[in-house]
Amino acid sequence: MVWPKIGASAPQEFPVSEVQGEAANAAQIDYWNATAGQTWAHYQAQLDRQIEPLGLEALRSLAARPGERVLDVGCGCGQTTLELAERVGAAGAVTGVDISSPMLAIAEARPVPQGAAQPQFIKYDAQTADLGQGQYDAVFSRFGVMFFNDPVAAFRNLRRALTSNGRLTFVCWRPFAENLWMRAPMEAAQPYLPPSPPMDPTAPGPFAFANPDRVRSILSEAGFCDVSLQAFNTSIGGSSLEQTVDLSLRVGPLGAVLREQPDLAPTVADAVKAAMAAYETPGGVLIPAAVWIVTAQAS
Ligand SMILES: C[S@@+](CC[C@H](N)C(=O)[O-])C[C@H]1O[C@@H](n2cnc3c(N)ncnc32)[C@H](O)[C@@H]1O
Repeated sequence: MVWPKIGASAPQEFPVSEVQGEAANAAQIDYWNATAGQTWAHYQAQLDRQIEPLGLEALRSLAARPGERVLDVGCGCGQTTLELAERVGAAGAVTGVDISSPMLAIAEARPVPQGAAQPQFIKYDAQTADLGQGQYDAVFSRFGVMFFNDPVAAFRNLRRALTSNGRLTFVCWRPFAENLWMRAPMEAAQPYLPPSPPMDPTAPGPFAFANPDRVRSILSEAGFCDVSLQAFNTSIGGSSLEQTVDLSLRVGPLGAVLREQPDLAPTVADAVKAAMAAYETPGGVLIPAAVWIVTAQAS
């Protein structure tokens, strides 16, 4: 199996090199500007296809209206920012903020649908940047809010950016064990990987908001009201078996291990392929995913 290095064909750097308030989330800023961000930029089309149904469910819940001003937090390569821009239309406004230059460069280059608001993309740490006060009717995020080193401070900052009757909607992962699209490849690879220390369930990362009590407590402490978490399950993917295996080795916890030890990838790939073959359908590989759709009111 060929294991090409990602990043050589990365797009131009997003033309802002500094992130406001850089110190707080320095580790995540490094992570999302180095290999993880380059991987997400490289696999943008496949990742968008994979997680689009989960973002659409959150967008349905937000129900953005024409003319509204919406902030898309951790907007990455911008798929949801553009979807929001279509929903609010030319009379509205959408801002996507993210810490990742390679992902923002992809977002910036995407065509804006006719009749949509012209989105603005800014390289900001959503926890520490000055996002203004009362600027937005809604704050939205698809998997972009689980990486803050101080989530209460971050959500206070997001709440400050909302109008007094503003609303928050985001989608985040439920536990790793319930997300077979990540668990199945990891379990298949495990016999070939060195032992790793147990994950801290509250450390910044994809599963930091898996515990609903923790999410309620963070949002309440940050001043949000009417916090609600709705479980949503669906199967995601839709790519060929080869593409699915390739992506599984690049993202999530397994991708993080293999980025550190790429020499293990060829061995692991066969085991992952055998595990993923069980989920092959005429519509591509479709694997169960489990998320929370979280909603709250600024006051
Ligand atoms: C899992 S990706 C999701 C990207 C995008 N929302 C999507 O659904 O395709 C997480 C994103 O959160 C961004 N992120 C992490 N910490 C952030 C922070 N403190 N402020 C802004 N963005 C952040 C990352 O750079 C990355 O683009």
